[in-house]
Amino acid sequence: MSDTPDIRVSPVQPAWLSALLALRVADEQRAFVGAVADQLADIAHCPGSEAMAILRHDVPIGFYRIETRADSIAGRAFAQPTLGLRAFFIDQRWQGQGLGQQALAALLSDLATRHPVARQVALTVNVRNVAAIALYRRAGFVDTGELYHGGPAGPQHLLLYALPA
Ligand SMILES: CC(C)(COP(=O)(O)OP(=O)(O)OC[C@H]1O[C@@H](n2cnc3c(N)ncnc32)[C@H](O)[C@@H]1OP(=O)(O)O)[C@@H](O)C(=O)NCCC(=O)NCCS
Repeated sequence: MSDTPDIRVSPVQPAWLSALLALRVADEQRAFVGAVADQLADIAHCPGSEAMAILRHDVPIGFYRIETRADSIAGRAFAQPTLGLRAFFIDQRWQGQGLGQQALAALLSDLATRHPVARQVALTVNVRNVAAIALYRRAGFVDTGELYHGGPAGPQHLLLYALPA
């Protein structure tokens, strides 16, 4: 059996809810991502918003949400069909082991498969969030140079990832 952890992503299933609700980031990271309970409550009222689980050997270790229209997260329209990525995180117990990088690769592959019409993925990331900025850049996200000022924790960079045609 391989030592490489089996990381996959999936739309949230009811059986995973209690494990997802127990996931936490470090105190100093809480400004960058809302609690899963708040995310799920918000998603329930947002058509086009999908709750996603990050699974390690089929056990939840992280969470994110996908918006079918990125306009709401960037505060502006996009010329091409653009998905929005929000609230991406790895539970603090599992950080620093390369799992965020693997999860992001699985996420982008999943989007390319399930949203073939989409041409790009947009996200905003707090200018102070050095770890996440490094992770996204390494995965191929490009900084647009635009700053989004709509977040509660200060200015955010707007990053874009071009999905394969
Ligand atoms: C950002 C986050 C998802 C990274 O997850 P992770 O599993 O720890 O990341 P990985 O171990 O896969 O690291 C991948 C790369 O991310 C970057 N990175 C991760 N942690 C870092 C840190 N503390 N400082 C600087 N860069 C870091 C590095 O480029 C790293 O590659 P390297 O180890 O080869 O240098 C995680 O820190 C997290 O959940 N943070 C809180 C929530 C958050 O800020 N989400 C982003 C919202 S936009």
